Amino acid sequence: MERTQVAIIGGGPAGLLLAHMLHLDGIDSIVIERQSMAHVLERIRAGVLEEGTVKLLRNVGLGERLDREGLAHDGTVITWQDRPPFLIDTYKFTGRRMMAYGQTAITQDLFAAHTARGGRLVEAASNVRLHDVTSSSPSVTYEVHGEETRIQCDFIAGCDGFHGVSRQSIPADVLRTFERAYPFGWLGIMSETPPLEDIVYAQHERGFALASQRSPILSRYYIQCPNDTNLADWPDERFWAELKARFPRDLADKIVTGPSIEKSIAPLRSFVAEPMRYGRLFLAGDAAHIVPPTGAKGLNLAVSDVFYLHRALDAYYKRGTEKHLEQYSATALRRVWGAERLSWWLTKLLHVFPDHDGFDNKVNQNEFDYLCGSQHAQAALAEQYVGLPFEP
Ligand code: APR
Ligand code: PHB
Repeated sequence: MERTQVAIIGGGPAGLLLAHMLHLDGIDSIVIERQSMAHVLERIRAGVLEEGTVKLLRNVGLGERLDREGLAHDGTVITWQDRPPFLIDTYKFTGRRMMAYGQTAITQDLFAAHTARGGRLVEAASNVRLHDVTSSSPSVTYEVHGEETRIQCDFIAGCDGFHGVSRQSIPADVLRTFERAYPFGWLGIMSETPPLEDIVYAQHERGFALASQRSPILSRYYIQCPNDTNLADWPDERFWAELKARFPRDLADKIVTGPSIEKSIAPLRSFVAEPMRYGRLFLAGDAAHIVPPTGAKGLNLAVSDVFYLHRALDAYYKRGTEKHLEQYSATALRRVWGAERLSWWLTKLLHVFPDHDGFDNKVNQNEFDYLCGSQHAQAALAEQYVGLPFEP
């Protein structure tokens, strides 16, 4: 039997950041992760950080490598068939700066900080289970090498991603879920080649494509693909040819190709579970919500959840007030739904849907024309794309 104040299930970015922020608040926690940390640290995910995320990471002492290696990102380009590039000028409209910095690097930074301060973390934990979450002394049990351990705690943070056990511990008559599955995924590659100058979203009749970046010598590219796509059918040459076919000619010519160092397919899904609290269990990050990657909001949402949750726990331990704990779910969900709407809208605007007809295509085209011609529409998009502020 062990004891901590907050048992954190999941050692991804949400769980590790929460452990870090609670530590700064003087609150003790243990992270319980199902995989080996080597596995967690290798996962490749999106990589665009809102200004609020960048500031928060700096404030908690995690800005050093980010400021050294991250690429300032002041707007994203959209191309539409062969039309000239259109810039979502986030800096002009909001005065705020985003940053391209991979989630893989953030997870590494968080894990390094965790290890450096001697934070407790159990890896390769199986059969993780939550107990007595509606009582004032919940606990978590897990097994390592067949031996069970129980962690007695005050609160449980469910940071265990979409496939985790925490959300499933909330009774079906309490939990409401909202979902949209998309009839396509993203086939992505990483390559050690210099990226295009800007992050570029390409709308094209062959399907959506995205040119992104991780460093001056590391590029990330994606193409929309059917859900039943087989990676083996996509050798690098085929990927590069299809990618280039979806960009206007002059941009396609600027794409530097090379061998891929990673290739994978991600499905697209919108999902929200409400409420994000059940008794002493609080969900954060992908455990509670998924956004399609269009707009790169996933990690930023995990960060805002963790910000609200650490603040609520800090207020509880320092001042005995439960107000923020009670408001956590509603507060976090307001921001979640903002990002859900934006990523759904961008996905709808930029992808080819197998069931769309001529009417849908005309409306989409008009939506884009309106955006290009209206400063108001551009300002509204920029404001959401750069990230809505955290609520006081
Ligand atoms: N017990 C313990 N850990 C678990 C369990 C379980 N039953 N199930 C899953 N986990 C672990 C996973 O192995 C993973 O390391 O929880 C972690 C959850 O991490 P993420 O899936 O990265 O989710 P989160 O930390 O919320 O980060 C959100 O990840 O998917 C992206 O776009 C998303 O950028 C966003 C970020
Ligand atoms: C990425 O770099 O992986 C990325 C960038 C922008 C997006 C989504 C993903 O909208």
